[in-house]
Amino acid sequence: MSAPIAVALDGPDLVTIVGWASAVGPHVSTLKVGLETYLRDGGAAVHAVRQAAPDCALFLDLKLHDIPNTVAGGARSVAHLAPDYLTVHASGGAAMIRAAVDALPETRITAVTVLTSMSENDLDAVGLRGPAIDAVRRLAALAVGAGARAIVCSPQEVAAVRQEVGSGVVLITPGVRPDPSSGGDDQARVATPEQALADGADLLVIGRPITAAADVEQAARALAHRLSESR
Ligand code: C5P
Repeated sequence: MSAPIAVALDGPDLVTIVGWASAVGPHVSTLKVGLETYLRDGGAAVHAVRQAAPDCALFLDLKLHDIPNTVAGGARSVAHLAPDYLTVHASGGAAMIRAAVDALPETRITAVTVLTSMSENDLDAVGLRGPAIDAVRRLAALAVGAGARAIVCSPQEVAAVRQEVGSGVVLITPGVRPDPSSGGDDQARVATPEQALADGADLLVIGRPITAAADVEQAARALAHRLSESR
């Protein structure tokens, strides 16, 4: 069985992305195409990734955030790619999230609560006072109320979000670091994959710990094996 991991295919060119997709595809459930890849290669990246790893779900991480009409149009523009997940920022508000849900009923509209790169000081600086967990809980509840069927939060908040939204919603956690002692890159609110799953995450977004490894296939295989042992 493949591991509940979405590998973030954030890379310098399409050849690299496709190489990673075919290397990790047999070991993980999901592949994530985000801004770096989509803005450069567009829908061609999604088609190429699907071809390289046909058994994986496709997560299109565009983090849409605009007025409802524009987000609905943006969502319709990627409808032909039939992504399994499409992200929007929960802070865009209920009407914006609902617009995406209505535009793409077959896709799990996935609301990003608070970026895992933001520390409490960063949040304070943009006017989100108080602990991150309060904003995350509030945004998760709002998003699910507006029809989102998946939520992105940090592994440190996933247990509280599960309590807030119940069992039917897919909880997705970036900020996962298999070895936190090696540093979190630009991620601030991190945890190990085992901890994130134990706390209720359904899908772990992992990029550089896999894609920056000397042997990408081996890194994905080892992580999938490690998770299957821990479950
Ligand atoms: O390389 P790393 O494991 O940090 O990659 C994490 C991925 O998850 C990146 O593609 C990033 O855009 C995405 N992401 C995130 N925090 C969120 C939502 C998505 O790091 N809240």
